[in-house]
Amino acid sequence: MTEMITFENVCKSFGKTVILNDFNFRVMRGEKVAIIGPSGSGKSTLLRIIMALQDIDHGKVSIDGKPLWEVNHGRHLVKPTRRHLRDMRSLVGMVFQNFNLFPNLTALGNVAAAPRHVLGLSKKESEARAAALLAQVGLSEKLSNYPSTLSGGQQQRVAIARAMALEPKVMLFDEATSALDPELVGEVLGVMRDLASARDLTVLVVTHQMGVARAIADRVCFMEGGCVVEEGGPEALLSQPKNERTRAFLRAVHLA
Ligand SMILES: Nc1ncnc2c1ncn2[C@@H]1O[C@H](COP(=O)(O)OP(=O)(O)OP(=O)(O)O)[C@@H](O)[C@H]1O
Ligand SMILES: [Mg+2]
Repeated sequence: MTEMITFENVCKSFGKTVILNDFNFRVMRGEKVAIIGPSGSGKSTLLRIIMALQDIDHGKVSIDGKPLWEVNHGRHLVKPTRRHLRDMRSLVGMVFQNFNLFPNLTALGNVAAAPRHVLGLSKKESEARAAALLAQVGLSEKLSNYPSTLSGGQQQRVAIARAMALEPKVMLFDEATSALDPELVGEVLGVMRDLASARDLTVLVVTHQMGVARAIADRVCFMEGGCVVEEGGPEALLSQPKNERTRAFLRAVHLA
């Protein structure tokens, strides 16, 4: 098995606030990992670093065996070029809490945009790819709908199809079901589960909904104070956490 995401001794602070403290983290190809932890513990920052939206202070991050924040130049390591970051970003798809669809494009247009402009596919090819992806998330009937005419669950399914449009090796979900009305969580979670069943796709889910972690993950990591405090299979970690801090967090979540 090969490593798809590797963090080695990564440090990241915002001013005096330490977010990642000598952080080590590995995700194998095809693994499905959920990250849980208190608000402000750095979960979104972790995903943003993987997506190359946020740089790091020290250490090394690799995606699919390639260093993210540096490139080999002869025997020296130099800062990444824009092109390197663009290539690396195309390995990763990300879905956010608030959908972030382009409001002026239809569902089809939202999903077709990246294949058309990043891969340079023709209009016809990019729309065919988009239609297939929208069918996969159960939205064949909604191709020409604008986001404002879709429910939250439907918008999020468009966002998932859009994130898949460049055939990423890694999918990141940041609280993807948290803004949805409870009755719409199931339809989005179903789509996430279907995606996660693809053996080769590596999936990282940040969530404060423990049901989502259970449904998707082979491994759950509890993050606090700049590091992973405890990790394990969903059943073991969520039902029988060993660490006192994990226990306190899960108690608080269950009381919420
Ligand atoms: N660009 C930034 N500049 C300064 N501080 C930031 C920035 N981004 C995040 N932070 C701070 O870093 C800390 C970690 O933020 P992050 O969003 O990663 O937490 P989180 O675990 O995702 O929290 P939540 O569960 O509330 O989404 C917070 O204290 C936040 O205020
Ligand atoms: Mg967050």
